[in-house]
Amino acid sequence: MEFRYHNPTRLTFGEGTFGQVGELTAPLGSRAMLVTGRSAMEKAGYLQKAKDLLEDAGMAVTVFNKIPPNPTLDAVMEGRELAQAEGCDVMVGLGGGSAMDAAKAIAVAASHDCDMREFLLPDENGEKRLPSEATLPVVAVTSTAGTSSELTPFAVISLTDTHEKPAMAGPNLFPRIAIQDPELTYTMPAHVTAATGVDVFCHAAEGYISTVATPLTAHTALKAIELVAECLPKAVAAGAHLEARRGMMLANTFAGYTLSQAGGNVMHALEHPMGGHYPDIAHGAGLAAIIVAWGEQMWERAPERFATVARIFGVEDPDDRSAAAQVGGVLKEFLTAVGMEVTLSDLGIEQEMLGTLADDALRYMLGGVRKTPGETTREDLMGLLRASY
Ligand SMILES: [Fe+2]
Repeated sequence: MEFRYHNPTRLTFGEGTFGQVGELTAPLGSRAMLVTGRSAMEKAGYLQKAKDLLEDAGMAVTVFNKIPPNPTLDAVMEGRELAQAEGCDVMVGLGGGSAMDAAKAIAVAASHDCDMREFLLPDENGEKRLPSEATLPVVAVTSTAGTSSELTPFAVISLTDTHEKPAMAGPNLFPRIAIQDPELTYTMPAHVTAATGVDVFCHAAEGYISTVATPLTAHTALKAIELVAECLPKAVAAGAHLEARRGMMLANTFAGYTLSQAGGNVMHALEHPMGGHYPDIAHGAGLAAIIVAWGEQMWERAPERFATVARIFGVEDPDDRSAAAQVGGVLKEFLTAVGMEVTLSDLGIEQEMLGTLADDALRYMLGGVRKTPGETTREDLMGLLRASY
């Protein structure tokens, strides 16, 4: 057996660790750009607190609070212009995956003089350009237990003109510093808690069955799935359930270490095209719509592993094949319990778009499709989409 593991991000986890953002960022530069969304962090008071903490640590701070959900290349380019005009030398992403991914992409855009699409879309050989070591350092402070962007070498950016939602990736996209402070999730509304929690589950579950899974990622994936099964319903039912909030942040940690090595596979490969064509669909909601069909149509490709997932969600059957066959049913119950049982039609996706979603997945999310066990054809993807409609 041979496997590799690489995650250079320095992680700080714990209640109150947000207060360390100034001292952790200061060694990386002198002019910080604080990248965040349009309102949530400001309303919760965290934007002002982050600005104060960075300034107290001796840094000049430029605020860029224009990141939309499913961050766009236009927003990234606007951030690049501001970062260059202000001479920013370190990016601080504060918020959910959108803010952190945008911070990473601006770190690349501000340090590379080329078309950003070269990093996002495969060339004729199927290769994407990798961000170089010139990429500005990034500090990622997550406000959700969700995307794990703070621990991964990925940044997902939407191209509004072509309706694509690809990711840039590469070792230089790992944030230098990640802060996972469960307190930032205490005010997260129930539906955001549920949607981002579903994303954690998918990172872990896809990583667990991935063709590039290792003993290390299998371990972190299972730990994340166990924590999601135990803590997500409690965190959705009662946002002030502090142990459940900590449990979900820890699930996000374990899922992040899984995702950073194994990447996503078929569910993420199908969700990205959904977000590209329908930018209002929350990432977790798009994933939630496919989970049951994924369990029902994929379990035979890895019965033992799907059986393990099924048992975490309550299946007691000792026979692996029979337990695995029940995985779709128990995941459906789980999604119902957290208010995330949705279909593609509920999300507003037109039936005639299913073929385009499958084609897009095979075009610019092919790496993810290929990490799914077994051979995955266009017809397999259509089967998943039709069953999820
Ligand atoms: Fe995700």
